[in-house]
Amino acid sequence: MSARAVPGEGAVPQAKGRPRRWHPALVALHWLTLILIAAQFLIASPMQDETRNLVERFELYQLHKSIGLTVAGFVVARLLLRLVIKPPAPANEGRLLRLASDAVHSGLYLCVIALPVTGLLMAAASPIQIPTLYFGLFQVPHPIGPDKATYELMLRLHDWAGNTLLALGAVHFGAVLVHIALWHDNLLRRMWFGRGKAQPSLRA
Ligand code: HEM
Ligand code: HEM
Repeated sequence: MSARAVPGEGAVPQAKGRPRRWHPALVALHWLTLILIAAQFLIASPMQDETRNLVERFELYQLHKSIGLTVAGFVVARLLLRLVIKPPAPANEGRLLRLASDAVHSGLYLCVIALPVTGLLMAAASPIQIPTLYFGLFQVPHPIGPDKATYELMLRLHDWAGNTLLALGAVHFGAVLVHIALWHDNLLRRMWFGRGKAQPSLRA
């Protein structure tokens, strides 16, 4: 790979044979996932609020479970597309920075896989058996039956994955801000839609 720019020089590296920006399908999935995850955190507290009436809470739980399973579908689609679509060249030139950004991206993927898996297992293992209705359209089969120990473990893991996602999301967001504010490169632009070539630099 022959890179032509480094952070601080005003452009994300370009490499021969690599696209300049992320594929539109990957861009759409990235931002849709972010919106759905934000909705999940917003729904989580009113759905657990015991002062609310039960019908309302039931509906919020169903919404949370349906959105969560949709996120799972998006992540699977995204990972499959990542296998067949070439990504742009790594944004960071230094080996350590590249390792750090790969680690954060992998951690984010792990969290958005762990959350729907632990969520579904938690709902399935719950001592109170409540069906999972996907946006009211059909009932999602529960892969396991009620089991208090599994329920409690999944609850802890779900909570932990949620907190880890928040922490990694903050690091990821911070890194994007560094690219924009300090390195003045076109990183954000390559995770957005555009025809043909992305501008090599925000200043260009
Ligand atoms: C990306 C997807 C998801 C995110 C970001 C997410 C996030 C959260 C958060 C932040 C909480 C509150 C945790 C706490 O207060 O300890 C929560 C609770 C919960 N989630 Fe999810 N979740 C996701 C997917 C799912 C899925 C797919 C299901 C089930 C099919 C699910 C079922 C639940 C349940 C049942 C609770 C309540 C746990 C309790 O009783 O305290 N979640 N989720
Ligand atoms: C406001 C919040 C966010 C901003 C501004 C943002 C921005 C970006 C940008 C600009 C890139 C491209 C990096 C590059 O070209 O090398 C990127 C990549 C990525 N983002 Fe985010 N992002 C945000 C939230 C999230 C969240 C919540 C997730 C969790 C799923 C996430 C997961 C990823 C992953 C895994 C990549 C690597 C590309 C891939 O493998 O598809 N991002 N993000």
